[in-house]
Amino acid sequence: MEDIMQKIVSLCKRRGFVFPGSEIYGGLANSWDYGPLGAQLRKNIKDSWWHTAVESRRDVVGIDGALMMNTKVWEASGHVATFNDPLVEDTVTNKRYRADHLLEDWLKKNGKEGTIVVDGMPVEKMAAFIAENNIVSPDGNPLTEPKQFNLMFQTSIGTTNDEKNKVYLRPETAQAMFVDFKNVLGTSRKRLPFGIAQIGKAFRNEITPGNFIFRTLEFEAMEIEYFIEESGWEEHFEYWAEWMEKWAKDIGIDTNKLHRYEVEGDALAHYSKRTLDFFFDFPFGSKELWGLAYRTDFDLTNHASHSGEKLEYADPDDNSKKIVPHVVEPAMGVDRTLLALMISAYHEEQADGETRIVLKFTPEMAPVQVAVLPLMKKNGMSETAEGVFDSISNEFRCDFDESGSIGKRYRRQDEIGTPLCITIDHDTLQDGSVTVRDRDTMEQTRVKKEDLLDLLKKKLCS
Ligand code: GAP
Repeated sequence: MEDIMQKIVSLCKRRGFVFPGSEIYGGLANSWDYGPLGAQLRKNIKDSWWHTAVESRRDVVGIDGALMMNTKVWEASGHVATFNDPLVEDTVTNKRYRADHLLEDWLKKNGKEGTIVVDGMPVEKMAAFIAENNIVSPDGNPLTEPKQFNLMFQTSIGTTNDEKNKVYLRPETAQAMFVDFKNVLGTSRKRLPFGIAQIGKAFRNEITPGNFIFRTLEFEAMEIEYFIEESGWEEHFEYWAEWMEKWAKDIGIDTNKLHRYEVEGDALAHYSKRTLDFFFDFPFGSKELWGLAYRTDFDLTNHASHSGEKLEYADPDDNSKKIVPHVVEPAMGVDRTLLALMISAYHEEQADGETRIVLKFTPEMAPVQVAVLPLMKKNGMSETAEGVFDSISNEFRCDFDESGSIGKRYRRQDEIGTPLCITIDHDTLQDGSVTVRDRDTMEQTRVKKEDLLDLLKKKLCS
C-alpha cells in the first residue's frame, strides 16, 4: 500500500500537481507548492464546497477573515492555553517526536493496539507509561519527559519584538466566524438556524508533519459554524454528518474508504462536547480526513466575556427572548481532501499489453476536462484544432497538445485525469468530423464539429 503513495507522489511531481517547496534551494521540510494541475484541482474542490455550502443555500453566508487576529481572540478561544501536542525529544539525536504517536506505534508493535486511549492522555500519564515500558526513540535512544508544546506560530507586528506586538498566525479559520458573529447577523439578517462559512489558510507548528500533504505547517480549511438553539443539536449534528458524506461521494472520494470515528473522553478538543471524525483509508493508515464538532456555546460565550460585547441572538418574533446560540461545526481540510481524491481516482489497468495509469476524476473535479489533439502539426490540422479549442474553451477547462505520438498524448491525458480527448485528423479536414475519446472506456466516437458542444455538455455536465 505504501507503494501506491510513492506512485502518487511521483505522479504529482511528474505531471505538475504538487512540487516540493523551495526545491532549487534544497527545499523546506514539509512545504509543498501546487503546480498548474494541483492549483486547478484545489480550486475545483473549493468551488464545489463553496457552491454546496454557501451559494446554493438560503441559510449559510460566507466571509473571508484576516489571517492575523488580535491576540485576545486566541486567549478567549482557549488556544493559548490548550492548543498543544505532547512533545518528546531523543536525548542523543535531539530529534523531536509526538509522544502520543510513539506510544501508538509501540502499542501496535507489541500487539496491544486499542488497549489504552492515547489520544488526549495527560503528559504525566504518558511519562509514566514511557518509563514503565522502557519506550525509546525510533533510533533506540532514551526520550525526554513529554511536555506540552503549543502549535501556534508567533510573529510580531511593527519594529519591536515585545510582548504587546505579538500576534499568532491563525491555527483555524473558525474564530473569525465567532468574532464577526454580530456583524454578520446584523448585515445578513439571518434567523436561527444559520451558518457562516469560510475557506482559508491556517498555520500549525506541527511537531511531526509528514506523509506528503497530509500534515503540513500551513494548510487550507473549509469550515462552517452552524448556529442553532441548544435543543435539537443532535439532529443538526447528524444532518451535517450526512451532508459531509454526500459531498465526499459527489466529488468522487471513495466512500468505501471513509469511516465515522467517534472521538471520546480526553481526546475531545477543549471546546467540543461531541466530535465525529471522518477517517479515510490512506495508504499509510486510516487517518482523520475531516471533523465534525458540537462546540456548544463555548466560543460565543468566551468571546462575549473577554471582549465585553454581547454576542446574542434576539428572537425576531419575541425581542425579549435572547439566547447565545450553540454551534455545530463541519471542518474540512482542502489538502487532505485533495490527497483523498487523488487516492480514490488512481487506477492502474492493463491496456495494449502495458500498464495504463488513469486518474478517474469526476468531470467537475478534473483539472482538464477536454484535451484537443491535432494528429499532426501539418496540413492545416493545428489551425483546425485551434478553432475547435476556441469553440469549446469558454464552456470547459481545455488543454491543447500537439507534440509527440497520439498514443503518448492519450496516456498523458489519462494520467492527469482528463475525461475526454478530441482528435483532429485527416477526416476532419475532409468531412468536418472529429474523434471523441472517452478516458475510462477508451472508446472513440466520431461527431460533426457543429454537434461537438452538445455532446460534451451531455457527457460532462449530466
Ligand atoms: N476548527 C476546527 C478545526 O480546526 P481540526 O480537526 O483541527 O478542526 C480541521 O482541523 C481539518 O483541517 C482537519 O480535519 C484536516 O482536514 C485539516 N488539517 C488539520 N491539521 C492539518 C495539517 N497540519 N495539515 C493539513 N491539514 C490539516
